[in-house]
Order: sequence, then C-alpha cells, then structure tokens
Amino acid sequence: MPSPLIIVTGAGGRLGAALVREWKSAGLNVLGLARQELDLAQPEQMRVVLASLDFGVLVNCAAQTNVDRCETERDEAMRINAHAVRTLAEICKAKGARCIQISTDYVFDGAKTSRYTEDDPVVPISHYGESKRAGELAVLDVSDRNLAVRVSWVFGPDRPSFVDGIVKRALTEEKVEAIADKIAVPTYTLDAAQLLKPFLFDVPAGGVLHLCNGGSCTWQEYGQHALDCAAAAGMPLKARTVGPLKMADLKAFIAKRPPNTAMSTAKLTRLTGIAPRDWREAVREYITQHVAVNG
Ligand SMILES: NC(=O)c1ccc[n+]([C@@H]2O[C@H](COP(=O)([O-])OP(=O)(O)OC[C@H]3O[C@@H](n4cnc5c(N)ncnc54)[C@H](OP(=O)(O)O)[C@@H]3O)[C@@H](O)[C@H]2O)c1
Repeated sequence: MPSPLIIVTGAGGRLGAALVREWKSAGLNVLGLARQELDLAQPEQMRVVLASLDFGVLVNCAAQTNVDRCETERDEAMRINAHAVRTLAEICKAKGARCIQISTDYVFDGAKTSRYTEDDPVVPISHYGESKRAGELAVLDVSDRNLAVRVSWVFGPDRPSFVDGIVKRALTEEKVEAIADKIAVPTYTLDAAQLLKPFLFDVPAGGVLHLCNGGSCTWQEYGQHALDCAAAAGMPLKARTVGPLKMADLKAFIAKRPPNTAMSTAKLTRLTGIAPRDWREAVREYITQHVAVNG
C-alpha cells in the first residue's frame, strides 16, 4: 500500500526540491507545491488548493528566507513566515494531518559558547529570526503533533548557496575571503531528506527538533574546506585559500547575525538512532558529485 500523501510546500526552493526528489525516489507518495501553485501570501488560495487534497503530512519549506529583506519588509516577513504557517497548520489539523514547519538557528541570539539544544531559550536578534520564531509558535500552538525543525546553513544541488558561491569566486578571483567570527553547522539537503524521513510517519514526536550535519565551523572554515575539496576534484581554482573577514566589516548586512548557532542533534539521534555525518564529509560529497562535474 502506498504511504499517505506527503505535501512539500516551497518545492521550488533549495530544501523543498531536494525533499521532493529524494523522498519520491525512496518510493514515498509526495506532491511538491512551488510558489506558483501555493502562495503563502494568499490564505484563500492556500485553503482552496489544499482542500482538494487528501494528505497525511505537510512539510512547509516555503519562507521569506532573505534575512536582510525581512529587516526592511517586516509585515511581509510576518505574513509569510508566521501568519501563513498558522493557516497551514489549521488546514492540516482540519484534515487530521501533521504539519512539519522548517525553521532556523536564527531564533537564537548566538551568545552561547556551546551547542544549542531544543530546550535553550530563544532570543531572535533579527526580524527574520523573530518571524520564524512566530512561525514555530504558531505551528506548535495548533497541534502538539506538529514539529518545528530547525536547520542551519543549508546547501545542496537545487539552488546555489555559500558553498557554490565561494567555489565560483575562487575559479575567477585571486583572493577570496569569508567571515571567521561566526559559527554554525552546514546542513546538506540530501542528508536532511534522510534525517527527516523517520519523522513523516514512524516517529510521532512533536515539538522542536534540531536537524543539521555533525561538527561545526566558521564561514571561513566552511569555505576553505569547499576549496580544498574542489581542488582535490581537479577544479582549476585561482584562489586556494580563504582569508578571514569580521562580521562587523560586512557593511552590506542589514540584519544582525548571531555569532554562534551550532546546534546539538542529540535529540534527533535519541529519537531515531541516526547520528548525522560530519559536515566535512557532506561537503566533500556535494562538491565531488554536484559542483566539480558542472564547474
Ligand atoms: N538557506 C539556509 O541557509 C537556511 C538556514 C536556516 C533555515 N532555513 C530555512 O529552511 C527553509 C528552506 O529554505 P531554503 O534554503 O530552501 O530557501 P529557499 O531556496 O529560499 O526556498 C524557500 C522557498 O520558499 C518560496 N517562497 C517564498 N515566498 C513564498 C510565498 N509567498 N509563497 C510560497 N512560496 C514562497 C521560495 O519561492 P521562490 O523560489 O519563488 O523564491 C522558495 O522556493 C526555510 O524555512 C528557511 O527559513 C534555511
């Protein structure tokens, strides 16, 4: 018997596209809805589209993810990242379906010097973080079966991110730099698909869950490892070393970024028995299988 239908919203994005592809290829019954099919800015359209579908779980990957835009377009950020999430969760509840909301490490202020757990207090320091926290509270308020899954530094083949950008720059520029005073954990979208799969039907836990690769790094270390992997894969890089930058030097940033948001995945491991692999291994695989072959 096929699994109940899984709906993935934000299916045109980096994470959403990967979840749809990976879960479909694992034999699950998945329907991806991109922005043109389901617009979180249009609650009535959301109700009409979802009313016609019979599904067991909805994973919301759609969001206003531009951290600086959220600072200047605050109403829009709240509408997409929080109010629409409540609407989705209410539609799910009426259907007897579970709602899994993808959230972010930016709900923390980044002042902690060790890893954040799900029990740590949240103190967003940007409007993006505030709107995503409001989305978490909305989804958890509607049903205690719902999950808010925090990811960080998402990378993967469906939309370029930091890791693609730094390799691209190193192919044409003699000198590349990245921030050395901000720490987090990269999350490979293909790993996220595997790590999240048990929570669709098998692990009924609700609440907050941290989901990312193992280890942690600064942006500079992340970039350096990406260049090392690209060079090892034979890419003709002009720059081989990533120089350090300070967050304070990046005048283009509008929103404040939390300095340390490395998250613990102990809860995920306790619930599933799976320990996420180290981010370095995931980046190596990504560069070898997806970047070097195209670059
Ligand atoms: N990227 C990261 O490093 C990171 C870190 C922490 C948490 N997260 C969270 O992870 C989730 C997935 O992010 P991602 O990396 O996949 O980002 P992404 O590539 O920007 O994907 C977000 C998707 O949401 C869609 N979207 C935006 N506004 C919408 C609306 N009004 N209605 C429907 N869809 C809308 C976007 O559509 P378009 O394709 O039309 O733009 C895009 O496809 C988000 O919840 C994000 O907050 C991401």
